[in-house]
Amino acid sequence: MGSDRNGWKSNIGFLLAAIGSAIGLGNVWRFSYMSFEYGGGAFLVPYLVALIIAGLPIMILEYGIGHQQKGSAPLTLARIDQRFEWLGWWMPVVAMMGIMLYYSVVIGWCVNYFCYSFSLAWGNDPESFFFKQFLEISDSVDTLGGLRIPIVFSTLMVWIVCWIICFRDISHGIEKASIVFMPVLFVLTIIMVAWSLSLDGATEAIMQHYLHADWGRINLFAADPARAKAAGEVWAAAFGQIFFTLSLGFGIMITYASYLPDKSDITKNALITSTVNCLYSFITGFAVFGIVGFMAKSQGVPFDQAIKNGPQLAFVVYPKAISLLPGLNSIFGIIFFLMLIIAGLTSGVSLIEAFACSITDKFNLSRTRVVSIVCAAGFAGSLVFTSRGGLYLLDIADHFITNYGLVLGGALECIIIGWIFRARVLREYINRQGTKLPAAWDFFIRFTTPAILIFLLFLTVKGDLTKNYGGYHTDQLIIFGGGWMLICLLLALALAFGPWTAHKLVRRHEPEEDELLV
Ligand code: PHE
Repeated sequence: MGSDRNGWKSNIGFLLAAIGSAIGLGNVWRFSYMSFEYGGGAFLVPYLVALIIAGLPIMILEYGIGHQQKGSAPLTLARIDQRFEWLGWWMPVVAMMGIMLYYSVVIGWCVNYFCYSFSLAWGNDPESFFFKQFLEISDSVDTLGGLRIPIVFSTLMVWIVCWIICFRDISHGIEKASIVFMPVLFVLTIIMVAWSLSLDGATEAIMQHYLHADWGRINLFAADPARAKAAGEVWAAAFGQIFFTLSLGFGIMITYASYLPDKSDITKNALITSTVNCLYSFITGFAVFGIVGFMAKSQGVPFDQAIKNGPQLAFVVYPKAISLLPGLNSIFGIIFFLMLIIAGLTSGVSLIEAFACSITDKFNLSRTRVVSIVCAAGFAGSLVFTSRGGLYLLDIADHFITNYGLVLGGALECIIIGWIFRARVLREYINRQGTKLPAAWDFFIRFTTPAILIFLLFLTVKGDLTKNYGGYHTDQLIIFGGGWMLICLLLALALAFGPWTAHKLVRRHEPEEDELLV
């Protein structure tokens, strides 16, 4: 343990794992729907701006500090300044409790649907199949209504696979799995895109709804205040999506970079990870718009009534479209759900790793034991999301964690590194590793990025105060959203408490004299 961290065997192994973490369910169902909702091709502008001024700078920051301090998020932050160790815990705790517990259940649904694809079990009405037969959804979040056994089994399988991958050390576990999974994922995706493009109605839908740009939707300076406000929401959503899609603010990229060998090109690695991830979203969009266009045309319904957001896109719209295909329906379903399972698993293992590595870094415990306990406890924790009211819980948890937990974590991270550790010191370290960063990076980390994130947070708080998220009651939101976040915070504080038994808290690479003269 400690400096003898067993790391990546190759840079490409690291890149595939980091890209695997970034590419997840969100790339398939969140990105496409957002493009549709927020101005088609015009949405690419706020998306790219968010990538350049927030996503990329923070990814470089996370890679940089993880590589320099050679630790998971808590060890890295504690080494930088022990007062902020709690923030280092908040990130992986949120990753584990706030995301992985439900993320594993959704991958579980994909496993169920993968099996259903063989017989097209969803029949003629995939919507009622999903809600009534599959989830047996309860009336409200107040009624959890017992566990759904098929979902419990598939979720258990997901945790077992993640456990097998994470159990071994990085190069034999996550690296090997990524080297196998990622190329398979890319091939499956190319098949999906090509197949979808060949369907009747696909090209028109793509041209009219995906690539066609409605510039008015992103115009922040529109004369009509209501339109300008709506454009503000589009920009806020773009920043939120970039954060989620690049897996930033969870301590994952910090942990992954801590396993890199001493001389590794930080900037180049960050550029490659984020470019591949965003290109992947863009390319998968062709498959999503293509198949929804095909379905809309064959059913004679308008496109905007055919497309849905989030889980409904994968579990209602896709099954519907799959049943309508002229041939090889089952194969299409199998490929699609397998693609989601792989995309999900490579993100899932990164969430587990960020948490498990934090524990082994602090307490002198073996990796195998920690991973086993984390996976067993994780499975037990995810059972609540396999209940009949699980979908509601998932929806609330996701809203709070992504909009508050992450954004806050990211903003604090920028402030601590930008102002206390000092962006320039880190930039000089990063520059010694390879591709040079422009000085503007310091400015982004110190001012632009945290300011934007805090503004985003303000917008979400304002939005949530004026209108209850998702139409839930206030007490439900407070209990399940606020309560969940409070549990995460308490757990983070508890873990931050107590002595470090596995590592000395010495800041690595103390800045040289002249580096301190900012
Ligand atoms: N980036 C993943 C996605 O887009 C989700 C994820 C978030 C994975 C955070 C890991 C950590 O689906």
